[in-house]
Amino acid sequence: MTPLELWYPFHQPARDPAPIRIVRGEGAYLYTDDGRRLVDGISSWWTNLHGHNHPRIMAAIAEQTRRLDHVLLAGFTHEPVEKLAAGLGRVLPPNLTRIFFSDDGSTAVEVALKMAVQFWHNTGRPAKRRIVALENGYHGDTVGAMSVGDDSVFNEAFGSMLFPVERAHSAYCYQCPVGKKRESCRIDCADHLNEILERGHDEIAAVIVEPLLQGAGGMIVHPIEFLQKVREACSRWDVLLIADEVFTGFGRTGRMFACQHAGVEPELMCLSKGITGGVMALGATAATERIYQAFVGAEPDRTFYHGHSFTGNPLACAAANASLEIFETEPVFERIAASEAIHRERLAALRGHPAVGDTRQLGTIAAVEVATPDAGYTSSVKTSLYRFFLDKGILLRPLGNVVYLVPPYIIPPDELHRAWDAIAEALHSVLRM
Ligand SMILES: Cc1ncc(COP(=O)(O)O)c(C=O)c1O
Repeated sequence: MTPLELWYPFHQPARDPAPIRIVRGEGAYLYTDDGRRLVDGISSWWTNLHGHNHPRIMAAIAEQTRRLDHVLLAGFTHEPVEKLAAGLGRVLPPNLTRIFFSDDGSTAVEVALKMAVQFWHNTGRPAKRRIVALENGYHGDTVGAMSVGDDSVFNEAFGSMLFPVERAHSAYCYQCPVGKKRESCRIDCADHLNEILERGHDEIAAVIVEPLLQGAGGMIVHPIEFLQKVREACSRWDVLLIADEVFTGFGRTGRMFACQHAGVEPELMCLSKGITGGVMALGATAATERIYQAFVGAEPDRTFYHGHSFTGNPLACAAANASLEIFETEPVFERIAASEAIHRERLAALRGHPAVGDTRQLGTIAAVEVATPDAGYTSSVKTSLYRFFLDKGILLRPLGNVVYLVPPYIIPPDELHRAWDAIAEALHSVLRM
């Protein structure tokens, strides 16, 4: 019998280096089986918050394994999931009163989209079933999540199976969609969304956005006013706002949730990645009471018929509860501020560099858009930069020509500086390519 070979995600065996075997994680570091230590500069796909193998989270999971591994959440409940609902209630915007658990970021998005469409169905306006999303958006790899994500090499093969979505401009100031300069613009790009809603609000259920920061689309940071204008347009035209905080949630942007920078409250919010401190798979969709109440009633088609086998898994909830306790007992936001300050200083030093097209930052997320003729996810600089950083003992996975840092909050300042030194050095080599 031949053993099964692994099929790795986002991996092209004809081009990409062989996967690196990791045997241990601790703090900001990953240790390889050949004795190397890598700095996890991207928090293992933006998930890890408090460092790998944080003792409190690991102990909480171990403790939970002694009591209850798993139980379905249909008709049953348990203490870790109830505790997590209470804990999230203390940090989420106050208009969000209900929380629905799933497995990951993509399912958190699928749930939000389905809730939005069924909300209007249940409230007697079934024609409101279309979704509006933003250019450069990314919301996951399942079919609904791909549909709302912008066209890209990721979803090119599946065009025929995606549902149609109207796409509004995003505030990508470096390549302004309406040809303005940030210094003098009045967030004119947001008018496009308003026009779409004015024209189609009778048929539009929801607008979905990654608030303030579009991650996989290239770490695009939006002005706060853009999100405020999105909120205003949704309220004006009676359309639900879905905030996909899968990446931006849990402190990444310097506030617990990105929406809070703008004082914006969405009707639905998607969470995952950092919810468990980045340790276990868990997704969640938070909703307002108005949305939840539309699903309550004796008619058979009122119910939200959606649930995944591992919805609200007790081990994942135990990890998430421990992560929230870390927020309450450790100086998490001081750590975030320390990384933020280093990013700011190092990005300022790179501005004007001939290989730098744009620099962007929000909280612990910092990005450099390298000026190359082949900009985009498939840019030729991607793989060479990835290898360059690995040789220096730093895990960074450029999004095409966008090099970014999203470190765990506990990254030691000298390690963060070392990562920036490597980026500065890499930019010199880009010039020589
Ligand atoms: C904003 C956003 N939404 C959804 C997802 C999908 O999450 P997952 O990979 O856990 O399915 C991602 C993943 O990167 C994301 O950045």
